[in-house]
Amino acid sequence: MRSVLVTGGAGFIGSNFVRHLIANTDLSVTVLDKLTYAASRESISDLPADRCTLVVGDIVDAALVDDLVANHDAVVHFAAESHNDNSLNDPSPFVQTNLVGTFTLLEAVRRHDVRFHHISTDEVYGDLELDDPNRFTEATAYEPSSPYSATKAGSDLLVRAWVRSFGVRATISNCSNNYGPYQHVEKFIPRQITQLIDGQRPRLYGDGLNVRDWIHVEDHSSAVLTILNTGEIGQTYLIGADGEKNNREVVGALLEIFGREPDDFDHVNDRPGHDRRYAIDSTKLRTELGWKPAFGDFETGLADTVQWYRDNEAWWRPAKAETESKYAAQGQ
Ligand code: NAD
Ligand code: DAU
Repeated sequence: MRSVLVTGGAGFIGSNFVRHLIANTDLSVTVLDKLTYAASRESISDLPADRCTLVVGDIVDAALVDDLVANHDAVVHFAAESHNDNSLNDPSPFVQTNLVGTFTLLEAVRRHDVRFHHISTDEVYGDLELDDPNRFTEATAYEPSSPYSATKAGSDLLVRAWVRSFGVRATISNCSNNYGPYQHVEKFIPRQITQLIDGQRPRLYGDGLNVRDWIHVEDHSSAVLTILNTGEIGQTYLIGADGEKNNREVVGALLEIFGREPDDFDHVNDRPGHDRRYAIDSTKLRTELGWKPAFGDFETGLADTVQWYRDNEAWWRPAKAETESKYAAQGQ
């Protein structure tokens, strides 16, 4: 393998993955990204031009996708509409990008027999009760709750069908909630960090007891590269780092980092259909492919992330006011 096409490589996880590839492999990387509101050219603009090229375009553009896929050895597919709250306000771009876009890529990799890795989410499995002793595994039934997770679930099923019916050489990974640098300020952790930098109060949806299973984005990248190199075609791998925390605990840790009082936050309107808890059992990935996370300590990873947002205000500031006014309009 010499060249990789990374869709969505100017977004949060995609840009971190591209950085990981540049630092840890000799691969040459082409990013295909539409540069939606969620993307930033600056997330990859410092990378060496002879290793990383950005093509601005849409994954539903079949001619463009066909041309790019034909000239690469593998595709790693991150591009998606990714935010649940947006999917509740307008599901249409989620159907286009997450379903039609994935279909368009699958048809191209099928025509050119190119290796494909599909990035997906633990949200396809729905949610767990807080006291459920079980976690999600590769055998858990699909039960998505939101338009976002329903379109991701549909895209996973398309990949599985293209493997079985057409022999496409694909793998799938479903990861839990990522945190780290270059994440858009609409998402939970960057939103609260930038609230605190601005001297504002964090905002917790509902009772704040919803649980997410946090993983550092660098660990997600190392897992995806492991699967790309050694994963078995047709298999699904769950990616997680045993990082369950409820939202109040995360806000509490942030308030402590900023030296603020433990109750210095607001409860705001809950998200309709809000999933209660996600939890990943990543035994298969660890035992079959030998992967393990490097960021064991959430508090340290969180403090590093706070420092990144303090040091990179020019990166996030342009999106902050508009994001907050959208949230304010829905009482969040
Ligand atoms: P993001 O919203 O930060 O980035 C998405 C990127 O895709 C952006 O750069 C955007 O411009 C691009 N894009 C959107 N529509 C496109 C289109 N039609 N054509 C080309 N590019 C397009 O998302 P993220 O949080 O980095 O998530 C990346 C992937 O990882 C998604 O598939 C998501 O479902 C999955 N995932 C995310 C998480 C998480 O915690 N954020 C966890 C598990 C899985
Ligand atoms: O589990 C993986 C998923 O994680 C990915 O598939 C999604 O792309 C990604 O956006 C993320 O989805 P969530 O909905 O879990 O992430 P979000 O950052 O939107 O919210 C995390 C939790 O924090 C959730 O319980 C809602 C809550 N929340 C969110 C915001 C923005 C708040 O309490 N306050 C907030 O201001």
